[in-house]
Amino acid sequence: MKIGFFDSGLGGLSVFNKIVNDVSACYIYLADNKNTPYGIKRKNEVLKYVEENIKILVELKCDIIVIACNTATSIAINHLRELYKDICIIGTEPAIKLAANDRVENKEIIVSATTMTLREEKLNDLIKKLNIENKIKKVALDKLVEYAENGNYDENEVKEYLKDKLKNINLNNCSHFVLGCTHFPLFEKEIKEVIPNNIKVIDGSTGIINNVKRKIKENNLEENKTTVKLLLTKESNIFVNNFKRISKISDIDVSVIK
Ligand code: DGL
Repeated sequence: MKIGFFDSGLGGLSVFNKIVNDVSACYIYLADNKNTPYGIKRKNEVLKYVEENIKILVELKCDIIVIACNTATSIAINHLRELYKDICIIGTEPAIKLAANDRVENKEIIVSATTMTLREEKLNDLIKKLNIENKIKKVALDKLVEYAENGNYDENEVKEYLKDKLKNINLNNCSHFVLGCTHFPLFEKEIKEVIPNNIKVIDGSTGIINNVKRKIKENNLEENKTTVKLLLTKESNIFVNNFKRISKISDIDVSVIK
């Protein structure tokens, strides 16, 4: 069985890492490192990149495609499912529902994501549907994507950035911190260090993995020896090294898409 992962960069590893040692498969991880970050670009431009890259995973005959990117999911998932009706495409959404179900009475939920995800209809419709509009504090943390991609960030600089972004939120009145971008779990430690420890930090990766496992069963897909292929849209040794460090996998077949 072939499972494709897609993200603008390294963020998808926060999902990939939770399945790769558990389910044996041929994994293909496609990172659009040439065009990262997505969250601060124009929607139409990003839509074009997402379409091009998902087409590649479809052509490589992936049985399941995981869009391990909230930004790409928010703008493209419906359209992609229409386009590829026979392929199982699993998206990533900020775990707001999980937070809302677990919410402590009257407390607020911080939803962190990219600027694009926060602006998109998908997220705002969900908040409306859950009827918690006045309990949500949105915070765009686009710079975390850059820090992650550069790899050699300064922890203190990251924490100062986070403090600045959170300075107008009364943290004592919050019960949950939703990591609505797959790059953000890479900074869970720094995030936890700048917020009170009674705030629960959550992301959607467990839900996605359960979804993948369910689809494997439903489609009777068979496990096979694990291999990891990394496809990049731009050659980058820094990216490959960061990928190996974060995934803790060294045996990776790397190719650059021409
Ligand atoms: N990892 C991505 C997400 O989950 C995209 C970040 C970006 O490229 O801005 O939203």
